[in-house]
Formats: sequence, structure tokens, C-alpha cells
Amino acid sequence: MDGNFNENDLSRVVEADRAHVWHHLSQHQPYMNADAAKQVDPRIIVEGKGLRVWDQKGKEHIDAVAGGVWTVNVGYGRESIANAVRDQLVKLNFFGGTAGSIPGALFSEMLIDKMPGMTRVYYASSGSEANEKGFKMVRQIAHKRYGGKKHKILYRDRDYHGTTIACLSAGGQDERNAQYGPFTDGFVRVPHCLEYRKHEQDGAPDENYGVWAANQIEEVILREGPDTVGALCLEPVTAGGGVITPPDGYWERVREICDQYDVLLHIDEVVCGVGRTGTWFGYQHYGIQPDIVTMAKGVASGYAAISCCVTTEKVFDMFKDDASDHLNYFRDISTFGGCTAGPAAAIENMNIIERENLLENCTAMGDYMLDQLHALGDKHAVVGQARGKGLFLGAELVQDRDSKTPVDEKIVAQVVGDCMQQGVIIGATNRSLPGKNNTLCFSPALIATKDDIDQIVSAVDGALGRVFG
Ligand SMILES: Cc1ncc(COP(=O)(O)O)c(C=O)c1O
Repeated sequence: MDGNFNENDLSRVVEADRAHVWHHLSQHQPYMNADAAKQVDPRIIVEGKGLRVWDQKGKEHIDAVAGGVWTVNVGYGRESIANAVRDQLVKLNFFGGTAGSIPGALFSEMLIDKMPGMTRVYYASSGSEANEKGFKMVRQIAHKRYGGKKHKILYRDRDYHGTTIACLSAGGQDERNAQYGPFTDGFVRVPHCLEYRKHEQDGAPDENYGVWAANQIEEVILREGPDTVGALCLEPVTAGGGVITPPDGYWERVREICDQYDVLLHIDEVVCGVGRTGTWFGYQHYGIQPDIVTMAKGVASGYAAISCCVTTEKVFDMFKDDASDHLNYFRDISTFGGCTAGPAAAIENMNIIERENLLENCTAMGDYMLDQLHALGDKHAVVGQARGKGLFLGAELVQDRDSKTPVDEKIVAQVVGDCMQQGVIIGATNRSLPGKNNTLCFSPALIATKDDIDQIVSAVDGALGRVFG
């Protein structure tokens, strides 16, 4: 094989993929079925433009999930990003992160400008890796300042922070974690804050649920001992755990609790960061100040791999306070954190968002889409709740609105499959929470128009009608 192929006949590509590629999150049996009638081809996405992608058969799809995993925030086919990356690669493609680079320095300045109160950017190449950096900082601070004692990291039920063993140890999705233990010590779970399912939480009140849910975190801190808890890691809006928008009062109380017990607040913006919810960062909706912020997917919209772990100067200072101690600095490296394509793409990605007013579009189109999803709820009883912020939306499907019994994951998958048949790619929570993978997910690129949204919602409408009658 020579890497060349005939663009008009991608059968060779499909066969090479079937034979050798191990797809993410995929059961391969349907691609390999010995019974030819039952065999399906792996899907190859060949091309993209704006909000649309084309597969190996030339079929056009509108992509309502920004590359399947909430990533391509500025849409496909952006030549200005490709050009910025190309220009940078021929000048300097890489140098290890002990040195700086021109795009690395310039992007850090742009980013910090959008994050008042934060000052330092540590580069890596995936969301999981950025979160690991945050965890390592917390652990090292515990050793440097608290004799190793204040090392526990709290994470929340239903949240996800990545795929490595340490990130799964901080993972609140039991089905995603299943079969990958044993996990790392020192990670402790706190309850979720999904008001729609508060009936499943003992003692949840009718009023002021947000403050109550935050106070559950305080209870865990008191139970574990505040002198053992170093950090709390939360998604601003939970993504794969069911698109959970925090209830009123939650974040403000969370910040108070962290201050009271000297617990660092690490916000995982891997999905929400750089525009997805209509502000640069999800936490900025709630007027709170984090200590550590991680981000990845939307930072360069998938045009290059980049992630960042951003801290306050106070956190950074803890790693440079005593230069006479030879271990007293952040002794961490990420080889591909030194790739210059990431920050070069990220600079142009951010320029596009500003030039095209995509935050404003995201807010306006997000409100419009949420209204349309609510209207679907008026028509289909199976839509228990539609929720979200900006163009980051979910619709939880239930068998019955009183009991809120979740629709089975296999049936939710039929809705996704029906939309795919119609040429609309939507997402759904899957293999995350035992018995609760029942939320349809939407995150179209921030360039989405009313027409795009109408097309997406109409496909879902048709699919719900066909699957549920
Ligand atoms: C909230 C959140 N954090 C972290 C990650 C991990 O990012 P990556 O897959 O780039 O390692 C994800 C991935 O979906 C995520 O949704």
C-alpha cells in the first residue's frame, strides 16, 4: 500500500479501516460480521465545510455535535486556521516546552486576557492530560505545604475528566469506569447537582436546591477532614453525564465552601471552554473565580491538538517560592505540549470567534434552540426535560414524566440512528451512567443559523415520532 487512493472510490480506504483501525468507543463486531448481509461498513468522514460533513458514500450530514465530541466550535474548512498552522510549521514545528515559542507566548496573552484573575498557561495536548496536570499540581502543593496530607481531590457524580486511570479515578460515571479499576487513591466523590433528578437524592429540598447540592460537598469535606482535601474538580456544565446545567446558587456556594476550607477550585472547561456556552468560559456565567482551569476541545476547534491548564498567580507562586530546593518547581513535561501547531491554530480560532461575533451568535442560537427543544417537549411526552446553556444542549428522555424513569439506552440509540439516516448527526449519553444513558446531546458549531437549528430539531421531531409513535 502506498497511501495513494482514488478519491472517487473509497472502497480501499474502507477495507483498510475495517482491517486495521481500532475505532474509539466502538464495538467492532458489526464491521467484521462473517455474514455479509449483516456486515456494516465503518463510517469514514471524508470532508467538512461549515456545519456539514460528507462520508465515504458522498452523503451529506449536518453535524449537530461539532465533530462527534463537542470540538469543532468554529466549523469545518477554515482556511485561515490551516494557513496559520502551515506558516508556523514551516517556520518551527516543535521545540520542547522548557523553551517558549512565538505562538505559545502570544496565545497565552490572548487567553489570559479572556480570563481575569488567571495568569499562567501550561500547555499539553489533550483534555485528560490537562486535568492530570491540575491533579499533579494539587498533589505537589500538598507535599510542599501540608506534609502530603491535604492531597485528596473531590470530584462529582456524573462528571467526566478524561480517559487515563487517574482521570477515571476522578470520574463520576460508573459505567465508563467499569472494568478499568483498580483506581488511584485519594479521589473522593461528591453528589451531583441535577435538579431534575433530585427525587433520587435523600433529603433534597423543594426550594433552594442549588445551595443544598453545594452543601453536600461541604458535608464530604467535613467527613473526610478539611486538612486532607486539596481540591474540588467540577465541570461548569456537566457534559457526557447528561448536559447538567447547575441550579441557581450552586456555584456561588461552591466557591464559598472552597474558600472556607482552603480547597483549590479546579474547573474542567474541556468542553465548555472557548465559547461553547456563549461566554469564553462556562464558569463566567456564575461570577466566580477558579484557581485552576483546564481546557482542550474548542481551544483550536480540532485543527490541531492543544490543551491548557491555566492557574492563578497564587497557585503558580507555590512552585517558585524557594529556588534553593531542587525539587521545588513543577517537574512535569508534555512532549506534544511543545507542538507549535496548537497555539498557532488557537490564535486564529479565537480571532475568528471575535471577528464573527460567535459568542453572541452562540447565545442567541442557543436560546432559540432551547425554545425549539421545549416545543418538542410539548409535542412528545418522552422529552422529560430540555436543558443547557448556549449551544450546549440536552434533552432527557423518560418513559413517563411522573416517575421520570429513563428511556432505555438502546431506544435512545434508535433516535440517534434515525437522525443519522436523515443526514443529521446528534449525540447521546452512552455507556456512562448505569441505567441513565437517556439524554440526547446537541452542540452544533457556534456558526449555526436558525435554518441549521430548524433542520436539526425537525430531524429529532421526526425520529421521536417514528421511535415512540
Ligand atoms: C469534561 C471533559 N473533561 C475531559 C475530557 C477528556 O478530554 P480528552 O479526550 O481530550 O482527553 C473530556 C472528553 O470528552 C470531557 O468531556
